[in-house]
Amino acid sequence: MNKPVFNGERLLDRLKRLGEKGALHGGGVCRLALTDADKAGRDLLVRWMKELGLEVSIDKIGNIWGIREGIEDGPPVMIGSHIDSVATGGLYDGVLGVMAGLEVVAALNDADLRTQKPLAVGAFTNEEGARFAPDMLGSGVHQGALDLDECLATVGIDGTVLGEELERIGYAGNVSVKNLTPAAFLEYHVEQGPVLEQEGIQIGAVTGVQGISWTEYTVTGQSNHAGTTPMAMRHDAGVVAARIACEARAIADEFGPPQVSTVGTFELNPNLVNVVPLEAKLTVDLRNTDNDKLIAAETRLAEAAARFARDEGCKVEARTLARFDPVEFDDALVSRIEQAARDLGHSVRRMPSGAGHDAQMFAPNCPTAMVFVPSAGGLSHNIAEHTEPDDLTAGGRILLNVALELLGE
Ligand code: GLV
Ligand code: MN
Ligand code: MN
Repeated sequence: MNKPVFNGERLLDRLKRLGEKGALHGGGVCRLALTDADKAGRDLLVRWMKELGLEVSIDKIGNIWGIREGIEDGPPVMIGSHIDSVATGGLYDGVLGVMAGLEVVAALNDADLRTQKPLAVGAFTNEEGARFAPDMLGSGVHQGALDLDECLATVGIDGTVLGEELERIGYAGNVSVKNLTPAAFLEYHVEQGPVLEQEGIQIGAVTGVQGISWTEYTVTGQSNHAGTTPMAMRHDAGVVAARIACEARAIADEFGPPQVSTVGTFELNPNLVNVVPLEAKLTVDLRNTDNDKLIAAETRLAEAAARFARDEGCKVEARTLARFDPVEFDDALVSRIEQAARDLGHSVRRMPSGAGHDAQMFAPNCPTAMVFVPSAGGLSHNIAEHTEPDDLTAGGRILLNVALELLGE
């Protein structure tokens, strides 16, 4: 029996080949959840899982996992993430965690090593939440934080229904959700922010994920002629929406880090040069590691939105698209990741995650932690997302070593 070796070349090859599914001109991918491109990615993943000898399951929300048997039965150690992307995504976000999981399996197979516990590699439906809100939807249903039927009925940004899209692409599985609580959950991911690169540190041992709050505001006013309507007689939904957007920014500026705010979508109706807008819709993404501060930010924005609407004689409605409290990972597992990094000679720091991750849905139910590697220029949700191959391999070796400790040789 040989010692298992994490093969960075093989990891890179799989990353590239999965990146061909939904590839965009100029680089990056559009693999929005449950689209044809997502189906193509899923098909390739399932093929690779089977080639590696994994027993593949697909549950009712379309999560895919493959299990490598252990000497003991019982709950597996799971390595997982997602393969869906935002519409302008890079090659690494999510995919890295799943492909690295496959590489851990391949390394164990090559070494002909049977572990005590089973090992599972998982890919969870609609982590991004870009097509169907909320994000982390598949892992949330899998771990009992979100309701299966409500999630199946979710209407996407293109008017499609999640459950129908799942059927259409052939990934409405028959395995019941909530049927697998792993012995431990590991997620390997690119940082998606600038900290590691700026500090010249190779590995992040992730301590938790900040709280996430997504709200859609719909403002209704009155459309009218842009030339003839006196300013005092206007009920301009666009102005109210613009003030909400500026308030979201002011909240983040005034609260200071780690509070962040983003208005990622903004639509006017009828969206014409000479018509006062009848309706405006915008989304606000607020995040903070401190739940009390996040609640304060949400409250201030909601009150401001009501005031701006009153000022303009408009109506405003708020709809929560996602709300997740901050999550802390398992301290002992975070320490193991730090130790594994040091043992392999890498610089490492503890850090919270700014992005949401499937790991946060597992954290309440089993020991969970994440490994981060640097993102060039701190770029993510961008087709130029990049991580150096040496860093990808370094994080993969840490993942393998920590997984081996948990699996028992
Ligand atoms: C999901 O990836 C998010 O953090 O928005
Ligand atoms: Mn991700
Ligand atoms: Mn993402």
